[in-house]
Amino acid sequence: MENLTPKEIVAHLDQYVIGQDDAKRTIAVALRNRYRRMQLPEEIQNDVIPKNILMIGSTGVGKTEIARRLAKMMEAPFIKIEASKYTEVGFVGRDVESMIRDLASVSLKLVRESENAKNGEKIEAYIENKIIEKLLPPLPTAASEQKKIDYDASFARMQAKFEKGELDHLKIKIEMPPAGLDMDDNGLPPQMIEVQESIAKVLGGINKKGKEKEVTVKQAKSILAQEASAELLDEEKLKELAIEKVEKGGIIFLDEIDKIAVASGSQSRQDPSKEGVQRDLLPIVEGSTVHTKLGMINTDHILFIAAGAFHLSKPSDLIPELQGRFPLRVELDSLTEEVLYRILTEPKNSLIMQYKALMNVEELKLVFDEDALKAIAHFSSVANEKAEDIGARRLHTVMEKILEEISFTADEHKGESYNVTAQLVKEKLGKVVEDEDTTRYIL
Ligand SMILES: Nc1ncnc2c1ncn2[C@@H]1O[C@H](COP(=O)(O)OP(=O)(O)OP(=O)(O)O)[C@@H](O)[C@H]1O
Ligand SMILES: [Mg+2]
Repeated sequence: MENLTPKEIVAHLDQYVIGQDDAKRTIAVALRNRYRRMQLPEEIQNDVIPKNILMIGSTGVGKTEIARRLAKMMEAPFIKIEASKYTEVGFVGRDVESMIRDLASVSLKLVRESENAKNGEKIEAYIENKIIEKLLPPLPTAASEQKKIDYDASFARMQAKFEKGELDHLKIKIEMPPAGLDMDDNGLPPQMIEVQESIAKVLGGINKKGKEKEVTVKQAKSILAQEASAELLDEEKLKELAIEKVEKGGIIFLDEIDKIAVASGSQSRQDPSKEGVQRDLLPIVEGSTVHTKLGMINTDHILFIAAGAFHLSKPSDLIPELQGRFPLRVELDSLTEEVLYRILTEPKNSLIMQYKALMNVEELKLVFDEDALKAIAHFSSVANEKAEDIGARRLHTVMEKILEEISFTADEHKGESYNVTAQLVKEKLGKVVEDEDTTRYIL
């Protein structure tokens, strides 16, 4: 995954996001550059700083969608967050540094999963032994040689049965893992988190022994999986790996960055905390060290991708220092009728597919005529021109409008098929779209 070529990354995104080639290319190159950097000798590596990206495009053209798809694809620690949810240190809300702590948690989870997968066999064996020991009567310490041989034989027999799943229904008593304190980042300042952690350690020491509970072997397997991985994996090692992964490959997608820009035209500086957030962001984007529960994390090489519609403000309304830290700018295109048509039909899980699947639950077959699809794209595009341009989200409102009746009564039409024709689309939308005012309210 880490060494996907730019072309491969773009090809993957193409399955879900139509058009926006510039944005896809820029991101693909930025990701590839991190791979390239990792191949360099160490002394050069440290000088190669990632070039952060700013994606500019009006609402509903696929900014967040690109990030979402990227997140699913990448095995690198990746989080998508809204810049608008942060407040300046000292204000109520989340401080900016918490994004690094979130990223660290994501990384730890990734590392744990991959280590679990690597140790899959060991973990299975641990679980198997644990369960079979519970099922067999224990061997007395002073057992004769013969007894020991017998025990081993029945152990082997049980193993065979276990592997076939023949024991799944049996009941055994196992110790439940102690209920851990919820240690997710909850916006506490770092000092408080330390206190919280030490309290958790003390409590963990007290109720180390969980309660015993009777469960089936099948349930025990999943309960013991946790215990097995705690037993077999070295927690400190995991933390080290997780930190390394964040520092070298972490990606933060800062969505809605325009919401923390203060529009130059606005008379009042409505929200003093916006500029504060921007200033708080500077050191993190530039590279600083943040205290997390895994340890100190250096943010020098974390890649930031910021995105915003910039309807009410412009990139130049961000404080200059922050603008300078996002040297790569890409603009996303607004969606034309042709692109809307492709968005409707081409992506792997296109809107049309989704509606078909939903109606399929009611055993109703939805059929769209080619002309109807063209008409839907056409009316969506017209509505975008006449009212606000809300990009591909217009397709959602238009589809709802067309299908509202059949959606309501689908259960009465089991086994039938419902044909969406261009005629139907016109009937439902023609009037609405003709008149600008109704477009504003209805679509
Ligand atoms: N180019 C595209 N290809 C495929 N689907 C798209 C495209 N653009 C938008 N969509 C769809 O439209 C919806 C909204 O897109 P998205 O969330 O990416 O908008 P956005 O650019 O982040 O807008 P905002 O600025 O309002 O956050 C999503 O359901 C997405 O699947
Ligand atoms: Mg968005």
